[in-house]
Amino acid sequence: MGSVSKIVFLVSMLLTILVVLQFGKANSFLPTVYEHIINNMSNTVLGVHCKDKHHDAGFGRINFQEMYTFSLKPHPIVSVTLWFCRFTWNNDFQHFDIYVQKRDAKLCRDCTWFINSSGPCRIKGTSLDCFPWNPKVAIVY
Ligand SMILES: *[C@@H]1O[C@H](CO)[C@@H](O)[C@H](O)[C@H]1NC(C)=O
Ligand SMILES: *[C@@H]1O[C@H](CO)[C@@H](O)[C@H](O)[C@H]1NC(C)=O
Repeated sequence: MGSVSKIVFLVSMLLTILVVLQFGKANSFLPTVYEHIINNMSNTVLGVHCKDKHHDAGFGRINFQEMYTFSLKPHPIVSVTLWFCRFTWNNDFQHFDIYVQKRDAKLCRDCTWFINSSGPCRIKGTSLDCFPWNPKVAIVY
């Protein structure tokens, strides 16, 4: 190899290494999102079961004012991540999309939800942001 092509070779090797390092860095800095779910129904035991298409956070059972927490990894490139939960209490059940990446990416690193029978509310600054339940359909879990 001539000395010029040696330099070209070394520079391109260096660039390749830098690109690989940057890519690895971007991946390891993917944020983990924590969803905290608090039962806000007095004298009521709340069942919580959250999933996405490929993951299952498991079933939890919380008393009034207790908290259930799970974590999730949003999609790094496209906003397609969707986690939904089934809430069960007394003889009722409801579903809610607890993490919608398009809706929540900027808002939720640590999101706290209060579960009422009328629907979930989350804390947004100093106020409450309340949502309706998903339309009621039977989903096989
Ligand atoms: C929790 O429930 C109480 C009593 O029903 C209600 O007044 C309060 O607004 C609820 N809190 C949230 C954050 O939804
Ligand atoms: C639940 O959510 C509503 C808003 O939908 C909120 O105003 C209320 O304080 C909460 N408490 C109960 C008991 O539903």
